[in-house]
Amino acid sequence: MTSSSIYREALLEHMRNPKNSGSIDNPDLRASAYNPLCGDELELNIALSGEKIKDCKIKVRGCSICLVSASMMSELILLKTLKYAAKTSKNFSDSLKKENQKIAKNLENLRPLIYLKKYKSRIKCMRLAWDALDECLS
Ligand code: FES
Repeated sequence: MTSSSIYREALLEHMRNPKNSGSIDNPDLRASAYNPLCGDELELNIALSGEKIKDCKIKVRGCSICLVSASMMSELILLKTLKYAAKTSKNFSDSLKKENQKIAKNLENLRPLIYLKKYKSRIKCMRLAWDALDECLS
């Protein structure tokens, strides 16, 4: 199996079964993100227990890359602290920079997604859920 077919399989798994999809009644944090290039959007809801993200749900109306990125992000931040989520978001942004070939250790599972940064037009798709996270954290 080539690495690109392994990557494709990892992405397909999230497409078929997006994690933490949906909404939360009365969330502690809520933010939307919008891609003006295609009109797609998503909404991120976060419920907190102190500094910890006890639940997060995302409603996606977007392409498969956007959906996969949201699903992977939600897995990463669920049951983690806000500080960890902020650090993870920064790591993700850094990993999308063209010149950066390194991927932070905690983003290793996102390697198949980050691999797609070579398609410049898809970077906003990958960023959408993270933009909503940054908005929640700001
Ligand atoms: Fe709209 Fe990807 S094409 S978010």
